[in-house]
Amino acid sequence: MPQKLSGKVAIVTGASKGIGAAIAKHLAHEGAAVTVNYSSSKAEAEKVVQEIVQQGGKAIAVQANMANQADIKRLFDETKKSFGRLDILVNNAGIYNPAPLDEINVEHFRKMFDINVLGLLLASREAAKIFGPEGGSIINISSVASKSSVANFSVYSATKGAVDSISNALGKELGPRKIRVNSINPGMVETEGLHATGITESDFRKQIERDTPLGRIGQPEDIAPAVAFLASDDASWITGETLVISGGHR
Ligand SMILES: NC(=O)c1ccc[n+]([C@@H]2O[C@H](COP(=O)([O-])OP(=O)(O)OC[C@H]3O[C@@H](n4cnc5c(N)ncnc54)[C@H](OP(=O)(O)O)[C@@H]3O)[C@@H](O)[C@H]2O)c1
Repeated sequence: MPQKLSGKVAIVTGASKGIGAAIAKHLAHEGAAVTVNYSSSKAEAEKVVQEIVQQGGKAIAVQANMANQADIKRLFDETKKSFGRLDILVNNAGIYNPAPLDEINVEHFRKMFDINVLGLLLASREAAKIFGPEGGSIINISSVASKSSVANFSVYSATKGAVDSISNALGKELGPRKIRVNSINPGMVETEGLHATGITESDFRKQIERDTPLGRIGQPEDIAPAVAFLASDDASWITGETLVISGGHR
């Protein structure tokens, strides 16, 4: 089978774990050279790189806090230095700390928006600068929560609503430069981050499973192939869209 992304170079932010790690491995499986970004989990990021290299792929791990402008710039510089070009940016790094209304404060709001929204915008800006004349693909990992939230996640939902708006606006703005921008909106996916919230063992998970036509919550590998599709030339006339991947749960 020909590889969909042969000769392409991708950056996946927050790729040391969870959905990002699965995306990095899948893009490499489809032939892309991949920068595996992480914030603090160096060993996990290096493990993802090692798995890719063992399968015959190309990857490097680069530390960068996606809420820090200087770090973001360095992430793109190091990718260009190692692989010589950039074709795909997957803005996956994100946090989802719950907070009921009376616990929301300036610090919580800024932390969530700095990583989930501002970092995504600054990374998109850097990517657009270095994509070549043939354009590129930016895939933003949003959430079903952008449209259908749950209690105690108002700030998180607001960040993902902003992400969908950004995909739509940048799709229009960057289309003339052949840069496509789309959101993927997962439902509940079993990851290290989700386990840390305690949700995976909760009644909420059971309720989601009951309400999901396909009868289960997702795994990171359920999301990764759609990212490869949107990154590839198969999606060359798709931009500004949101793709819900949730087993049919709304
Ligand atoms: N899991 C779900 O149910 C679900 C559903 C819908 C959408 N999503 C979205 O999918 C994305 C990934 O979620 P996940 O569940 O896979 O998360 P996860 O298991 O918590 O993993 C998060 C990843 O992001 C990285 N990260 C966190 N803060 C960062 C920062 N400031 N700079 C760079 N990297 C950072 C982490 O790296 P370090 O460990 O090095 O910090 C890690 O690699 C998020 O945008 C989330 O909102 C998740």
